[in-house]
Amino acid sequence: MTPWKILITDGLDAKGKAVLSEVGEVIDRNGITADELLKEIGEYDALIVRSRTKVTPAVFEAGVKLKVVGRAGIGVDNIDLNAAKAHGVRVVNSPLATTITVAELTLGLMLALVREIPRADSAMKAGKWLKKELEGAELYGKTLGIVGFGRIGSAVADRARAFGMRIIAYDRLKAAEAITQRGGEPVSWEQLLELSDVITLHLPLTNETKNMLDANAFARMKDGVYLVDAARGGIVDEDALLAALESGKVAGAALDVFTTEPPGVTALVSHPRVICTPHIGAQTQEAQARAGYDIATEIIAALKGEPLRWR
Ligand code: MLT
Repeated sequence: MTPWKILITDGLDAKGKAVLSEVGEVIDRNGITADELLKEIGEYDALIVRSRTKVTPAVFEAGVKLKVVGRAGIGVDNIDLNAAKAHGVRVVNSPLATTITVAELTLGLMLALVREIPRADSAMKAGKWLKKELEGAELYGKTLGIVGFGRIGSAVADRARAFGMRIIAYDRLKAAEAITQRGGEPVSWEQLLELSDVITLHLPLTNETKNMLDANAFARMKDGVYLVDAARGGIVDEDALLAALESGKVAGAALDVFTTEPPGVTALVSHPRVICTPHIGAQTQEAQARAGYDIATEIIAALKGEPLRWR
């Protein structure tokens, strides 16, 4: 057996661990601190993370044997890609595994927002029957603006279409025909902001997308728009969102991701028209089983110097 040592720092599905155990020693240090990681990484050939572990330049510096870093999931924004390149370390991910799970959560958040399901539930638990107050809205006939029309964005479109929504989409990196083929109506950024009743984000956090939804973007939106973010914290300027909720511009927001995670009980988290979930977009048994297997096989390919499937 090749004596590879593989470190897992944010947990991994059992099937993924079993696949990795066939090629090396797998150490699960779920919850390892940043300092511990710096002390221990020097022993390892591979590191597998989710979003909690920050793979900083210092980690690459200390990871003298490191050959590959794997992200069990899609977003690699917690891995310093420049440092990885400078140290000749490959970075791999599992971009297909979580598409359905994130799309389903997005629909769940949209329904929870327009029908105020969390408020109805907590009122019931407090002995209150808010039937008259809880007059929501239908998704049927509304315009859904999807920002980022890749795998997840288009999976959201498929599901929202079944609810009778009009689907418009903005994707800086996709040709209009590609959006049309996947059932979306391509629009400009400004049109998306102006026409949408509900806006949902499905794009990575990059230098270009950071604070993309700022005060100017909110000002262009319809009064009473709903916002869903199950993509990445930092794409929405949280101060601008809070101001837009307070002015009534935004009727409600559902947030699964935050600029700082966990965010604590901030003004945004405790706002009565905000629904929050703790970054559970990819958190289903099915998605985690797929992500575990996909990242394990991709890590092995990278260690063996074989072609990668996705990066
Ligand atoms: C992703 O990028 O796929 C998700 O953030 C996964 C996760 O929750 O770790």
